Amino acid sequence: MRNIKQECAQAASKLIRDHSIIGLGGGSTITYLIQYIKQQNLHVNIVTPSFTTKSLCLRNGLNVLHTSFIDHIDIAFDGCDEVDKDFNALKSGGGIHTKEKLIANMANEYILLVDESKFVSALTFKQPIVLEVLEDALEYVSKTIIELGGEPNYRKSAVKDGVTISDNGHLLIDATFDHVEDIPKLEDQLNSISGVIDTSLFTKVITKVIVAKEDGIEVYSKNDQSYRVKIHE
Ligand code: 5RP
Repeated sequence: MRNIKQECAQAASKLIRDHSIIGLGGGSTITYLIQYIKQQNLHVNIVTPSFTTKSLCLRNGLNVLHTSFIDHIDIAFDGCDEVDKDFNALKSGGGIHTKEKLIANMANEYILLVDESKFVSALTFKQPIVLEVLEDALEYVSKTIIELGGEPNYRKSAVKDGVTISDNGHLLIDATFDHVEDIPKLEDQLNSISGVIDTSLFTKVITKVIVAKEDGIEVYSKNDQSYRVKIHE
């Protein structure tokens, strides 16, 4: 049986140059991509915001660098919860969006790998936008989210009492919006609230989306022509 996430990862692996610095996010499609990097014996240096991805790379003998020691990434790959045809994406589930967006900004190319269920004409906002927030700013940020038309909820853990603490030691607010008129403007508005470190709404950094469909792989580019990839010749 076909595994379209695996095919998506295989298509992504064809874009990696030997001896480059690459960013890898988290999730099951990235896990397949790690397998291809290993299988193809690519000599790359990897940076990642994800603890899980880092452990997997190290266990597979791949070279992982600390992001703080580099100032530029050649190409970065990531998953997302949802991405639209205008290259806006939500990356809310993992709660690691601050470092994911940093890697996206440092990269020449930031490419999302999705199956077709996640590629939509306009973001549905069924998922909340997540804001990583300084603890002192919790109530101030919550009040401002309400003023912008959203409903804030502190993210809590099912396996621990109290709020979820991010990898960076901050708190996470899930902000639900029913209807968003101007998606890039909302990213700017949320990011400009004092005390917000970053949000899981990505509107400016995505350069390509590789979509795994039942009838093949499609690569959508922000700046170039879109094209199809043949996995099985
Ligand atoms: C969570 C993410 C993950 O990258 C995404 O959910 C991974 O998806 P998949 O397992 O389908 O590759 O952005 O916010």
